Amino acid sequence: MTAMNKEPKLPPIPKGGKIKHAMSLGIDIWNNLDRFQEEYGDSFTLTLPGQGPMVWTGDPEVVRDTFALKPEQYDPFSVQIPIDVGEECVLFENFKKHQDSRKRIIPSLATAQLKNRAGVMHDIISEHIDSWTVGEEFNFPRIVGDMTLDIICYTLFGLREGERKERYKELILGWLTTSTNDTMFTIGQLYGARKFRAKLNKKYRQRTVEGKMGNLKKGLLPWKQPLDYKVQLAQMIREDAENIRARMDENEVHMLSVFARAKYDDGEFLEMEKVISECIAMMVAGHETSAATSSWMLIWLLKNPRVMEKVRAEIAESVAKEGVYDPLIISELPYITACLNESQRLSPSAPATVRWLTEDTQLGKWLMPKGTCISPCMYLTQRRKDIYGEDAHEYRPERWLDGSCKPKPWEFFPFGGGRRACAGMAQARQQLRIILAEIVRRVTFESKEDYVHTDALPTPRLVGGQTEPKDGVWVTVKEVLPKEAGITQFKQTA
Ligand code: HEM
Repeated sequence: MTAMNKEPKLPPIPKGGKIKHAMSLGIDIWNNLDRFQEEYGDSFTLTLPGQGPMVWTGDPEVVRDTFALKPEQYDPFSVQIPIDVGEECVLFENFKKHQDSRKRIIPSLATAQLKNRAGVMHDIISEHIDSWTVGEEFNFPRIVGDMTLDIICYTLFGLREGERKERYKELILGWLTTSTNDTMFTIGQLYGARKFRAKLNKKYRQRTVEGKMGNLKKGLLPWKQPLDYKVQLAQMIREDAENIRARMDENEVHMLSVFARAKYDDGEFLEMEKVISECIAMMVAGHETSAATSSWMLIWLLKNPRVMEKVRAEIAESVAKEGVYDPLIISELPYITACLNESQRLSPSAPATVRWLTEDTQLGKWLMPKGTCISPCMYLTQRRKDIYGEDAHEYRPERWLDGSCKPKPWEFFPFGGGRRACAGMAQARQQLRIILAEIVRRVTFESKEDYVHTDALPTPRLVGGQTEPKDGVWVTVKEVLPKEAGITQFKQTA
């Protein structure tokens, strides 16, 4: 029986103070988390500039209770996202509004739609690979980022090619890059993320009313460029949403169409700013997360040629059995799925989920005080030896297939958990498995990085809230097979 505190109390605070705590999360976060856990236990409190105490926890009981919190027990609006996604979206809503938003989003990203999208996702990825040449050097997260932008344009706007799609892509990438660069991130942290994004949103609305679209060039103020991108991106979404409302074509399944045609219980359309904000939330939620996750997965495959060969053999076996290359079947193959699980277990892209408590709350053995941000930490929980065994720190996809690894939802949660779990999980997992399968099947990479040949992992760094290898993942293309290599027929599902 664990001892419980009767008065609200924060877990131990590591030595150092606010700036040192913030720095420990910025660079080499995993080593620092390991160190804090070793010195202070499974739950510890970090103090960060511009916000209340943040309790990081790798204690499964605390994670379980956090995921079971009721909406009135936490405030999603306090989430420390220092970029102007727009205030009216699923990320910040609570109660019925939040449930209604999820009801609109999830069907667009769930199984039936994914069945149709698998073929298009595969085509998008194949076309990228077709353009690669032997000897080319890539930073892997950036090429996967480029692929996912194409997938986002298709999923969100139904656009596969053409001028409008290219324009969307340019504006989305420009906005994401300039909004999440180190300068903007640091200002956001120091100013307070919530206040900063509200300030940016006010400026964006003012510029929209005045019709000032901007020239997308750098300015004296660091927020000039992201603001230009946002104003122009929002204007494009607004135009397309208005056209969708004029057509009201129920056969359109892309997400903007779903948002633009949706109505409240009283029969009114969603406010246009909400439609825009929901679209932008999807970009933020889906882009860097997928790029970062795929980087870690590639690193594990490069470090483990044995696993890479097993993935190739699994794909070849599926093609031989089905008589066609079916991207949907490929995306559900058990070994590829185990490889993704194992990578997300050991090197999750999101370091933690967050809930800001609105009342004193019992979580596991801790009665946490009101105002605490509780952060169930994937990295710490998913490496526990008491859950995953003595070899918990080893990359061994087989553990997911031999019956030895059946974690509970609070023991394995790379997509968060409870009523706010990732709404795009099924789409994200499908696209990552299709990307990795196609790359492994057709491309051989070389890498000069030391970590490929040792047990070590590259030093992580937070990019747009996601953990990525600090210096990227640089690989050189050694061989690219044609799309048809070993395949006589492809199944198209769209
Ligand atoms: C590998 C890729 C991804 C990872 C690792 C990831 C991870 C996460 C995590 C950890 C959360 C917070 C969950 C919580 O607080 O408990 C989240 C929320 C969310 N994600 Fe993802 N995500 C990914 C891809 C996507 C994609 C592709 C989309 C949509 C296209 C998406 C949409 C969302 C949305 C809408 C939320 C907010 C849910 C809510 O507050 O109700 N995500 N994601």
